[in-house]
Amino acid sequence: MPRDKFPWELHNFFKKGSRVVVLTGAGVSAESGMPTFRGEDGLWRNYRAEELATPEAFTRDPKLVWEWYDMRRKIIHGCKPNPGHETIVKMEVYFEDFQLITQNVDGLHRRAGSKNVIELHGNLWRVRCVEEGKIFDFMEVPLKAVPPLCDCGSLIRPDVVWFGEAMPIEPLEAAFTAAEGCDVMVVVGTSGIVQPAALIPILAKQNGAYLVEVNLEPTPFTGLADCSVLGKAGEVLPELWNLIKDQ
Ligand code: APR
Repeated sequence: MPRDKFPWELHNFFKKGSRVVVLTGAGVSAESGMPTFRGEDGLWRNYRAEELATPEAFTRDPKLVWEWYDMRRKIIHGCKPNPGHETIVKMEVYFEDFQLITQNVDGLHRRAGSKNVIELHGNLWRVRCVEEGKIFDFMEVPLKAVPPLCDCGSLIRPDVVWFGEAMPIEPLEAAFTAAEGCDVMVVVGTSGIVQPAALIPILAKQNGAYLVEVNLEPTPFTGLADCSVLGKAGEVLPELWNLIKDQ
Protein backbone atom coordinates (compact mmCIF):
# COMPACT_ATOMS: atom_id res chain seq x y z
CA MET A 1 0.00 0.00 0.00
CA PRO A 2 1.55 3.36 -1.01
CA ARG A 3 1.46 5.05 2.42
CA ASP A 4 4.40 7.26 1.46
CA LYS A 5 2.18 9.08 -1.03
CA PHE A 6 -0.08 10.24 1.78
CA PRO A 7 0.96 12.10 4.94
CA TRP A 8 0.97 10.07 8.16
CA GLU A 9 -1.72 12.19 9.81
CA LEU A 10 -4.30 11.35 7.15
CA HIS A 11 -5.94 8.55 9.15
CA ASN A 12 -6.77 11.03 11.95
CA PHE A 13 -9.18 12.79 9.64
CA PHE A 14 -10.89 9.96 7.78
CA LYS A 15 -12.80 8.45 10.73
CA LYS A 16 -16.07 6.67 10.13
CA GLY A 17 -17.90 9.49 11.89
CA SER A 18 -16.05 12.28 10.04
CA ARG A 19 -18.04 14.70 7.92
CA VAL A 20 -16.56 14.13 4.49
CA VAL A 21 -17.15 16.14 1.32
CA VAL A 22 -15.80 15.22 -2.12
CA LEU A 23 -15.75 17.89 -4.84
CA THR A 24 -15.18 16.66 -8.38
CA GLY A 25 -14.51 18.18 -11.79
CA ALA A 26 -14.05 16.90 -15.32
CA GLY A 27 -10.82 15.06 -14.37
CA VAL A 28 -12.74 12.35 -12.53
CA SER A 29 -14.47 11.39 -15.78
CA ALA A 30 -11.34 11.62 -17.96
CA GLU A 31 -10.42 7.96 -17.44
CA SER A 32 -13.92 6.99 -18.55
CA GLY A 33 -13.04 8.51 -21.94
CA MET A 34 -14.71 11.89 -21.47
CA PRO A 35 -12.47 14.80 -22.62
CA THR A 36 -11.96 17.52 -20.00
CA PHE A 37 -12.85 21.11 -20.85
CA ARG A 38 -9.45 22.72 -20.73
CA GLY A 39 -7.19 19.82 -21.63
CA GLU A 40 -5.54 19.43 -25.04
CA ASP A 41 -8.50 17.37 -26.25
CA GLY A 42 -11.01 19.92 -24.92
CA LEU A 43 -11.43 21.67 -28.27
CA TRP A 44 -14.22 20.82 -30.66
CA ARG A 45 -14.13 22.07 -34.26
CA ASN A 46 -11.79 24.78 -32.99
CA TYR A 47 -14.34 26.02 -30.47
CA ARG A 48 -13.62 26.23 -26.77
CA ALA A 49 -16.27 25.21 -24.25
CA GLU A 50 -16.50 28.84 -23.19
CA GLU A 51 -17.63 29.80 -26.72
CA LEU A 52 -20.35 27.16 -26.96
CA ALA A 53 -21.71 26.90 -23.44
CA THR A 54 -23.24 30.36 -23.37
CA PRO A 55 -26.79 31.72 -23.75
CA GLU A 56 -25.50 34.00 -26.53
CA ALA A 57 -24.15 31.05 -28.54
CA PHE A 58 -27.49 29.26 -28.16
CA THR A 59 -29.47 32.31 -29.30
CA ARG A 60 -27.11 32.80 -32.24
CA ASP A 61 -26.88 29.19 -33.36
CA PRO A 62 -28.89 26.59 -31.40
CA LYS A 63 -28.04 23.94 -34.00
CA LEU A 64 -24.29 24.35 -33.45
CA VAL A 65 -24.66 24.25 -29.67
CA TRP A 66 -26.88 21.16 -29.82
CA GLU A 67 -24.43 19.44 -32.20
CA TRP A 68 -21.77 19.91 -29.53
CA TYR A 69 -24.06 18.54 -26.82
CA ASP A 70 -25.10 15.67 -29.07
CA MET A 71 -21.42 14.79 -29.52
CA ARG A 72 -20.83 14.93 -25.75
CA ARG A 73 -23.97 12.91 -24.99
CA LYS A 74 -22.87 10.24 -27.49
CA ILE A 75 -19.43 10.01 -25.84
CA ILE A 76 -20.90 9.79 -22.34
CA HIS A 77 -23.46 7.24 -23.48
CA GLY A 78 -20.57 5.00 -24.54
CA CYS A 79 -18.61 5.60 -21.30
CA LYS A 80 -18.67 3.67 -18.08
CA PRO A 81 -17.95 4.99 -14.59
CA ASN A 82 -14.30 4.32 -13.66
CA PRO A 83 -12.62 3.29 -10.38
CA GLY A 84 -12.56 6.97 -9.31
CA HIS A 85 -16.38 7.19 -9.45
CA GLU A 86 -16.67 3.75 -7.85
CA THR A 87 -14.40 4.67 -4.93
CA ILE A 88 -16.53 7.73 -4.21
CA VAL A 89 -19.58 5.45 -3.98
CA LYS A 90 -17.72 3.29 -1.41
CA MET A 91 -16.93 6.42 0.60
CA GLU A 92 -20.58 7.43 0.63
CA VAL A 93 -21.55 4.04 2.04
CA TYR A 94 -18.72 4.06 4.62
CA PHE A 95 -18.87 7.53 6.14
CA GLU A 96 -21.80 8.46 8.34
CA ASP A 97 -21.87 11.99 6.97
CA PHE A 98 -20.95 12.24 3.32
CA GLN A 99 -21.67 14.71 0.56
CA LEU A 100 -20.57 14.63 -3.06
CA ILE A 101 -20.49 17.92 -4.95
CA THR A 102 -19.77 17.77 -8.66
CA GLN A 103 -19.31 20.32 -11.39
CA ASN A 104 -19.81 17.58 -13.96
CA VAL A 105 -22.98 17.40 -16.00
CA ASP A 106 -22.31 13.90 -17.38
CA GLY A 107 -24.35 11.98 -14.80
CA LEU A 108 -21.56 9.39 -14.35
CA HIS A 109 -21.54 9.71 -10.54
CA ARG A 110 -25.20 8.69 -10.37
CA ARG A 111 -24.60 5.90 -12.88
CA ALA A 112 -21.82 4.61 -10.62
CA GLY A 113 -24.27 4.54 -7.70
CA SER A 114 -23.67 7.84 -5.88
CA LYS A 115 -26.89 9.03 -4.28
CA ASN A 116 -26.11 12.11 -2.26
CA VAL A 117 -24.96 14.28 -5.17
CA ILE A 118 -25.14 18.03 -5.61
CA GLU A 119 -24.85 18.75 -9.35
CA LEU A 120 -23.71 22.36 -9.31
CA HIS A 121 -23.80 22.86 -13.07
CA GLY A 122 -26.87 20.74 -13.84
CA ASN A 123 -27.12 17.60 -15.93
CA LEU A 124 -27.03 17.27 -19.69
CA TRP A 125 -29.54 14.41 -19.70
CA ARG A 126 -32.15 16.92 -18.55
CA VAL A 127 -33.56 19.69 -20.73
CA ARG A 128 -35.61 22.82 -20.30
CA CYS A 129 -38.23 24.28 -22.68
CA VAL A 130 -37.13 27.82 -23.44
CA GLU A 131 -40.76 29.02 -23.70
CA GLU A 132 -42.58 27.17 -20.94
CA GLY A 133 -39.60 26.60 -18.64
CA LYS A 134 -40.63 23.01 -17.96
CA ILE A 135 -37.77 20.65 -17.13
CA PHE A 136 -37.69 16.99 -18.10
CA ASP A 137 -35.35 14.05 -18.70
CA PHE A 138 -34.33 13.71 -22.33
CA MET A 139 -32.27 10.62 -23.03
CA GLU A 140 -32.44 10.54 -26.86
CA VAL A 141 -29.00 9.72 -28.22
CA PRO A 142 -28.08 10.38 -30.94
CA LEU A 143 -30.57 13.19 -31.49
CA LYS A 144 -33.15 12.54 -34.20
CA ALA A 145 -33.48 16.25 -34.97
CA VAL A 146 -30.98 19.02 -34.29
CA PRO A 147 -31.93 21.24 -32.56
CA PRO A 148 -34.54 19.14 -30.71
CA LEU A 149 -37.91 20.70 -29.92
CA CYS A 150 -40.37 20.51 -27.07
CA ASP A 151 -43.90 19.10 -27.62
CA CYS A 152 -45.08 22.73 -27.72
CA GLY A 153 -42.82 23.37 -30.73
CA SER A 154 -40.32 25.59 -28.91
CA LEU A 155 -36.61 24.99 -28.55
CA ILE A 156 -35.36 22.97 -25.63
CA ARG A 157 -31.94 23.54 -24.10
CA PRO A 158 -29.74 21.39 -21.88
CA ASP A 159 -30.58 21.97 -18.21
CA VAL A 160 -27.03 23.03 -17.41
CA VAL A 161 -25.48 26.25 -16.18
CA TRP A 162 -23.78 28.12 -19.00
CA PHE A 163 -21.04 30.72 -18.79
CA GLY A 164 -22.55 34.07 -17.90
CA GLU A 165 -25.57 32.47 -16.19
CA ALA A 166 -26.25 32.53 -12.48
CA MET A 167 -26.07 29.21 -10.74
CA PRO A 168 -29.33 28.04 -9.15
CA ILE A 169 -29.17 29.18 -5.55
CA GLU A 170 -30.34 25.95 -3.88
CA PRO A 171 -27.48 23.59 -4.89
CA LEU A 172 -24.96 26.34 -4.32
CA GLU A 173 -26.18 27.00 -0.79
CA ALA A 174 -26.22 23.29 -0.03
CA ALA A 175 -22.64 23.02 -1.31
CA PHE A 176 -21.44 25.98 0.77
CA THR A 177 -23.14 24.60 3.89
CA ALA A 178 -21.52 21.20 3.38
CA ALA A 179 -18.12 22.85 2.82
CA GLU A 180 -18.39 24.96 5.95
CA GLY A 181 -19.35 22.00 8.11
CA CYS A 182 -17.00 19.28 6.91
CA ASP A 183 -13.96 17.78 8.63
CA VAL A 184 -12.34 16.61 5.40
CA MET A 185 -12.69 17.69 1.81
CA VAL A 186 -11.27 15.75 -1.13
CA VAL A 187 -10.98 17.82 -4.31
CA VAL A 188 -10.62 15.69 -7.43
CA GLY A 189 -9.87 16.57 -11.04
CA THR A 190 -10.85 20.21 -11.21
CA SER A 191 -8.75 23.07 -12.54
CA GLY A 192 -10.26 25.30 -9.84
CA ILE A 193 -10.75 28.29 -12.06
CA VAL A 194 -14.52 28.37 -12.51
CA GLN A 195 -16.45 30.35 -9.92
CA PRO A 196 -18.30 30.03 -7.66
CA ALA A 197 -17.35 26.33 -7.43
CA ALA A 198 -13.73 27.32 -6.85
CA LEU A 199 -14.74 28.92 -3.55
CA ILE A 200 -15.86 25.60 -2.10
CA PRO A 201 -12.43 24.21 -1.05
CA ILE A 202 -11.45 27.65 0.26
CA LEU A 203 -14.57 27.77 2.44
CA ALA A 204 -13.82 24.29 3.75
CA LYS A 205 -10.24 25.19 4.57
CA GLN A 206 -11.22 28.47 6.25
CA ASN A 207 -13.56 26.50 8.47
CA GLY A 208 -10.86 24.11 9.58
CA ALA A 209 -11.27 21.18 7.22
CA TYR A 210 -8.38 18.95 6.22
CA LEU A 211 -7.98 19.40 2.47
CA VAL A 212 -6.87 16.63 0.12
CA GLU A 213 -6.34 17.23 -3.57
CA VAL A 214 -6.03 14.66 -6.34
CA ASN A 215 -5.09 15.99 -9.75
CA LEU A 216 -2.71 15.27 -12.61
CA GLU A 217 -1.14 18.68 -12.16
CA PRO A 218 -0.90 21.51 -9.61
CA THR A 219 -3.90 23.84 -9.39
CA PRO A 220 -4.79 26.98 -7.43
CA PHE A 221 -5.78 24.63 -4.55
CA THR A 222 -2.44 22.87 -4.33
CA GLY A 223 -0.82 25.45 -2.05
CA LEU A 224 -3.86 25.34 0.22
CA ALA A 225 -4.09 21.56 0.44
CA ASP A 226 -2.84 19.60 3.46
CA CYS A 227 -2.26 16.65 1.16
CA SER A 228 -1.82 16.98 -2.57
CA VAL A 229 -1.35 13.87 -4.68
CA LEU A 230 -0.41 14.19 -8.32
CA GLY A 231 -1.90 11.31 -10.25
CA LYS A 232 -4.96 9.87 -11.92
CA ALA A 233 -8.19 9.94 -9.95
CA GLY A 234 -8.93 6.34 -10.97
CA GLU A 235 -5.65 5.20 -9.40
CA VAL A 236 -5.13 7.56 -6.46
CA LEU A 237 -8.68 7.38 -5.05
CA PRO A 238 -8.62 3.56 -4.73
CA GLU A 239 -5.23 3.88 -2.96
CA LEU A 240 -6.67 6.46 -0.60
CA TRP A 241 -9.67 4.21 0.01
CA ASN A 242 -7.37 1.31 0.93
CA LEU A 243 -5.76 3.47 3.62
CA ILE A 244 -9.11 4.64 4.96
CA LYS A 245 -10.83 1.29 5.13
CA ASP A 246 -7.84 -0.55 6.63
CA GLN A 247 -7.51 1.59 9.72
N1 APR B 1 -7.28 12.40 -12.74
C1 APR B 1 -7.22 13.54 -11.99
N2 APR B 1 -7.26 14.77 -12.53
C2 APR B 1 -7.32 14.86 -13.85
C3 APR B 1 -7.37 13.72 -14.70
C4 APR B 1 -7.35 12.45 -14.09
N3 APR B 1 -7.38 11.32 -14.80
N4 APR B 1 -7.45 14.14 -15.99
C5 APR B 1 -7.46 15.48 -15.96
N5 APR B 1 -7.39 15.92 -14.67
C6 APR B 1 -7.43 17.30 -14.18
C7 APR B 1 -6.70 18.32 -15.02
O1 APR B 1 -5.35 18.41 -14.61
C8 APR B 1 -7.48 19.60 -14.69
O2 APR B 1 -6.97 20.25 -13.55
O3 APR B 1 -8.79 17.68 -14.21
C9 APR B 1 -8.89 19.09 -14.37
C10 APR B 1 -9.93 19.38 -15.43
O4 APR B 1 -10.10 20.76 -15.52
P1 APR B 1 -11.23 21.42 -16.44
O5 APR B 1 -11.19 20.81 -17.80
O6 APR B 1 -11.06 22.89 -16.33
O7 APR B 1 -12.60 20.94 -15.76
P2 APR B 1 -13.37 21.53 -14.49
O8 APR B 1 -12.44 22.06 -13.47
O9 APR B 1 -14.34 20.49 -14.08
O10 APR B 1 -14.16 22.73 -15.14
C11 APR B 1 -15.09 23.43 -14.37
O11 APR B 1 -15.87 24.62 -16.28
O12 APR B 1 -16.35 24.47 -18.55
C12 APR B 1 -16.87 24.54 -17.28
O13 APR B 1 -18.99 23.93 -16.54
C13 APR B 1 -17.76 23.38 -16.96
O14 APR B 1 -18.01 22.16 -14.91
C14 APR B 1 -17.06 22.71 -15.82
C15 APR B 1 -16.27 23.83 -15.19
